[in-house]
Amino acid sequence: MRLATTAFLLLALIAFPVAARQASDVVAPEANGPTTAPDGHQAGTAKSFMVVAAHPLAAEAGRAVLAEGGSAVDALVAVQLVLGLVEPQSSGLGGGGFLLHWSAEDGQLTSFDGRETAPAAAGPDLFLAPGGGPLPFFQAVVGGRSVGTPATLRLLEAAHRRQGRLPFARLAAPAIALAEGGFAVSPRLAHLIALEGDRLRHDPEAAAYFFDGASKPLAPGAILRNPAYAETLRRVVADGTDAFYEGEIAHDIVAKVRSDTANPGLLAESDLESYAVIEREPVCGPAFGYRVCGMGPPSSGPLAILQILALIEAKGFAALAPGSAAAWRLIGDASRLAFADRERWLGDPDRVDVPADGLIAPGYLAHRARLLDGPVLPGPVPSGTPGFDHGALRPLPGLGLTPELPSTTHVVIRDAAGNLLSYTGTIENGFGSRLMVHGFLLNNELTDFSFLPVDASGNAVANRVEGGKRPRSSMSPVIVFRDETPVLAIGSPGGSRIIGFVLQALIGRLAWGMTLQEALAAPHLLNRFGPFEVEAGTAATALAPDLGALGYKVEALDLNSGLAAIEIGPRGLIGAADPRREGTVAGD
Ligand code: DON
Repeated sequence: MRLATTAFLLLALIAFPVAARQASDVVAPEANGPTTAPDGHQAGTAKSFMVVAAHPLAAEAGRAVLAEGGSAVDALVAVQLVLGLVEPQSSGLGGGGFLLHWSAEDGQLTSFDGRETAPAAAGPDLFLAPGGGPLPFFQAVVGGRSVGTPATLRLLEAAHRRQGRLPFARLAAPAIALAEGGFAVSPRLAHLIALEGDRLRHDPEAAAYFFDGASKPLAPGAILRNPAYAETLRRVVADGTDAFYEGEIAHDIVAKVRSDTANPGLLAESDLESYAVIEREPVCGPAFGYRVCGMGPPSSGPLAILQILALIEAKGFAALAPGSAAAWRLIGDASRLAFADRERWLGDPDRVDVPADGLIAPGYLAHRARLLDGPVLPGPVPSGTPGFDHGALRPLPGLGLTPELPSTTHVVIRDAAGNLLSYTGTIENGFGSRLMVHGFLLNNELTDFSFLPVDASGNAVANRVEGGKRPRSSMSPVIVFRDETPVLAIGSPGGSRIIGFVLQALIGRLAWGMTLQEALAAPHLLNRFGPFEVEAGTAATALAPDLGALGYKVEALDLNSGLAAIEIGPRGLIGAADPRREGTVAGD
C-alpha cells in the first residue's frame, strides 16, 4: 500500500474539497487563447453531482454541464468530445465504447453497445500472414487493416436521444473552444508520443500533428491546436451525427483506410452508413452482499469479474486475511478459470452462441469451484461447459489469440437527479491504427479479434473475424447496487487486465474495507492465464516469494490501470481517480 500517498490524498481531501477549489482553479477557454488544465484532484467529495475523467479539462467540461442542470449523459458527451482532443491516444470519434446507465427516474439499468464492427468485407483471414500464421501484432495494428467502423458518435447520439437535456451544440462547445484556442499537451501524452517513435510517423497527417516543425515529439506544455477537429464537431452540431456517417467525413475516413499502401483496410462507406448502436441487458450477480452489474457480451469483462467473485466467495474468501498470499492465490486461480472460459466462450453474441447466463449460473460455478480445492491449480486451466439457454449448440469454439496493449479511458458521472453512468471509451491500442483524419485518430479495434480463426484442433474460434461482427472486449463498466440502490460506479482501461484491475478495486472496497482511493491506488496483482503479474516498484512485489513458493511463475511489470470511480454514500459523493494516470475528480 502506498500509505504516504494515501495519507496525502486524505489530507488533501480534507483540506481542499473539490467544491472549494473549482471556482479559482478553472480557467474558461478564451476565444482564441490556449487553455491550461486546472489542477487535477485524484480524490474528492461532492454534494450532488460529480464527474471523474482521465484529464482535468475533460472533467471540468463535464462539471460545468452538470452545474448547468445537464444530465449525466449530457456531461458524458462533453467529456468524451474533450477527451478525444486532449487524450487523443485513448479514445475519440474514431473509436467506440460501452455505456452502462442507471436512470434514477425510472429505476432502470441499461447498457449501450457502441462497439466498432468489422467491415462487411472482412473475413477470418484478416490477420493471417501469407504463411498462415498470425501477423506480428504491430504489423496488424498500424495502418488501415485494423480499423473497425467508428462508433463513438452514434453511441453518444443514442444515449443523448434517450437521456439528454441540453442541446448538442452546448455539449460540443468546450471541445470546439479548446480545439481552436489550443490546450497544453499533458505530460502523459508527451511521454506516449515520445515512446511511439516511427509508428506514429506512418501517416503524415498524424506525424504533422504529434511532432513539431523539427520532427521532435511534442513536449509537455506545448500548445496544441486542432482546427480540423473543431470543424468536424461544428459539422456535427450543424447537421447531426449523419454529417459524420455519410458524406465527406465518411468518405475521407474510408479513403484513409483503403489508400494506406503499406497496410490497406477494408472499411467501406456502407459500413459507416449501416452502423447501429445496440441496447443490451446488463449482466448482474451477487458479491459480498452487493449486486454487481456490468456490460454483457461482446464484453467478456463483467462476466469474468462475476465468475471470479462468485468462485472466491464459494471457497471461503471471507476467512482469508486481506492481501495475504492465500487470498491472492484464490483470486489468481479463480481468475485463471474465468479466463479459460472467456477464451473459449466469449464473442459477439449476435454471431456466436455465448452462454452468458450459463457462465454465471450458481450450479455451473459450484462445479467450477471444485477445481479450486487443491493448493494451486496445476498446469493449464481448462474451460468448462456452461449451460446454454438459447441457440443450437455449435461445435465447441476453439481457443483464440488476441494480443492487446494500452490506451482507452474510463469515465464515471453522477448528476444532481441521481442518474449514474459508467463508460469505457477506446480506440484500442495507444494512438489506435495511427491513422488520422479530420482531426481524430482511427481505431485498431479489429485486433481485439482472434488473429487465428481456428485453434490447433481445427475448431472455429468464437472471437474470429467475420464481416459486420463486433470484436470481443474486456472493457468493464460496472455499477454496484445495495438493496436496489446504486452505491458505486467504476471501470478502467487496461486491455484484458481491465478484468483484474476492476476486480481488485471491487474487492478492496467491498470486501477489504479500504477507502475508495486506497482501493484504486493499491498495488496491483493479477492473473490471466498463467504467471502472477505483480506491479513493479510497489509493495505487491513483496508477495512474490510467497506466490513463487505456492508454485506460480511471478512477473513484476508496469501495470498501468486508469481506474475511475464514484461512490454514493449517506453523506454525499466520493470520487477517486487512479494515481497512475492524469484522472481528475470534479463536482459541486
Ligand atoms: O475492448 C477492449 O478490451 C480493448 N480494446 C481495450 C483496450 C485497452 O484497454 C487498452 N488499455 N490500456
